[in-house]
Amino acid sequence: MEKKMKFFVDTANIDEIRELNDLGLIDGVTTNPSLILKSGRNISEVTKDICSLVKGPVSAEVTAMDYDNMMRETNHLAKIAENICIKLPLTFDGLRACKVLTEKGHKTNMTLCFTANQALLAAKAGATFVSPFIGRLDDIDLNGMELIAEIRTIFDNYDFRTEILAASIRTVNHVKEAALIGADVVTVPAATLKQLVKHPLTDKGLEIFLADWAKTGQKIG
Ligand code: E4P
Repeated sequence: MEKKMKFFVDTANIDEIRELNDLGLIDGVTTNPSLILKSGRNISEVTKDICSLVKGPVSAEVTAMDYDNMMRETNHLAKIAENICIKLPLTFDGLRACKVLTEKGHKTNMTLCFTANQALLAAKAGATFVSPFIGRLDDIDLNGMELIAEIRTIFDNYDFRTEILAASIRTVNHVKEAALIGADVVTVPAATLKQLVKHPLTDKGLEIFLADWAKTGQKIG
């Protein structure tokens, strides 16, 4: 597997996606029903717009709970664009759909993963990505990062190709810790992604350099 950490943006807001995509920072996008609600737009329309902006995988989530309807919804979502990644819940119906869709050549993202065993099942079903939810585990006083580490060990033990997509990222520290553990992908809200570049000493250092530069009276070029 290519050793490159990917950054996905976790939003269905076109303006946020465009801004980060223009910076060249985005390898893909994840959406979910709550993010579609927040966008205030129709799922097919907004997903089509996102797919036309971003080349990498764009996760669009099914809302059906049973296999037949998951497959029906997938037929609709997959037609939106080539780079659609079908997001399925970590249930037996979701795993069954994942296996069939993988065999048909679709990209899949098994979502709402909260245990290493769920991730193991996703890998056995051939998922392209599995999404462990770090923040929501932290919310209930469990350790989301510990889960990422467990899944990394298990996948490396057996050379599973499913990529670990660290989701429910809430802080810049989550991004750093996921990278240290070796998550393949982090999906991050736009505001948190933009925070990654920030440090008060960077701002202060720039201020000092610019003031000293002005005193030299020089210009470059
Ligand atoms: C992405 O795939 C997930 O749906 C998302 O990261 C969940 O984040 P939240 O727990 O902040 O809602």
